[in-house]
Amino acid sequence: MMAGVPRLQLAQLPTPLQFLERLSERCQREIWVKRDDLTGHAVSGNKIRKLEYSLAKARQEGADLVITCGGVQSNHCRATAILAAQLGLKVQLLLRGDEPELVDGNLFLDQLAGAQISYFARRYYSAHLDFIVEETCEQARREGHKPFFIPTGASDAVGVWGYYNASEELARDFEREQIAPDYLISATGSGGTQAGLTAGVAEHMPGLQVIGYAVCDDEAWFCNKVKSDLADWSEAYGMPLKTHDGSVQVRDRYIGEGYAIASPAVFQSIRDLLQLEGLLLDPVYTGKAFYGMLSDLEAGLLPGDGPLVFVHTGGSFGLFAQREQMLASLRDL
Ligand SMILES: Cc1ncc(COP(=O)(O)O)c(C=O)c1O
Repeated sequence: MMAGVPRLQLAQLPTPLQFLERLSERCQREIWVKRDDLTGHAVSGNKIRKLEYSLAKARQEGADLVITCGGVQSNHCRATAILAAQLGLKVQLLLRGDEPELVDGNLFLDQLAGAQISYFARRYYSAHLDFIVEETCEQARREGHKPFFIPTGASDAVGVWGYYNASEELARDFEREQIAPDYLISATGSGGTQAGLTAGVAEHMPGLQVIGYAVCDDEAWFCNKVKSDLADWSEAYGMPLKTHDGSVQVRDRYIGEGYAIASPAVFQSIRDLLQLEGLLLDPVYTGKAFYGMLSDLEAGLLPGDGPLVFVHTGGSFGLFAQREQMLASLRDL
């Protein structure tokens, strides 16, 4: 960790590293899970590690209003809304998609936490996000606020610190458990978790391969995003990058029909893991990535015999917003 980078203590750390005994036996490979779904309760998941830095910067700059954006069921927006409440800051969420009739999952918590919410049609949002953000910040200034904008998923140079430091925590976990994993695997949605892990692993555990399983955009997009967040971070904080050509690996074969659309096989694998190990995943991020990891393992695409470590990045509230899809999908199997 670098001294002098402002950070708030918001996450419950360290999170446990859990061995999945029965699944490992079944797969004939050790599978461990870093339980970052346990960074908190209402504010659970990976975003807290990044927001410890983003919100510290907001505070340092004297902001009284935090503005951020994401999908209607964004875990990042929910975590930001609740943490802002915890810090006595106002929050405004710019959400991609129409206001749903049934307010559920993360959106329910956004509302309950008192976030001010604006909805934008998907196409308009995707084409004009920069403009929407500028306008919203400008309007807030006119109203006498000091806004601070956090980009999608808190994935920027500041947010890299969250998982850069998590990799130090993981190095201590591996030391304690006396394991030397081959792969560190997580879902990739806006790239920040993978960027932080990649930089941290290059520094602390150079033999370990980080792999991000994409849940929306393709491999080229994520490689570019992760590398550009890392370059920004390195430049902004004068941190040397110890990454090499193969450091950024993204697999995009398991996105399925698109962001937040899970296949029956993903739903089934979520149910099976819950029944086998009591571990709950979500259909948008962790369920897809875990399913991808198991499928690749079966296909011989994760060679070696060392352990696999899956970073559970949270997201369980998103499952409730998809209960109908999940039940229908399991019925049809
Ligand atoms: C539960 C969950 N897992 C994984 C991710 C992906 O993390 P990142 O946005 O840092 O790529 C997200 C957010 O996008 C998330 O909400």
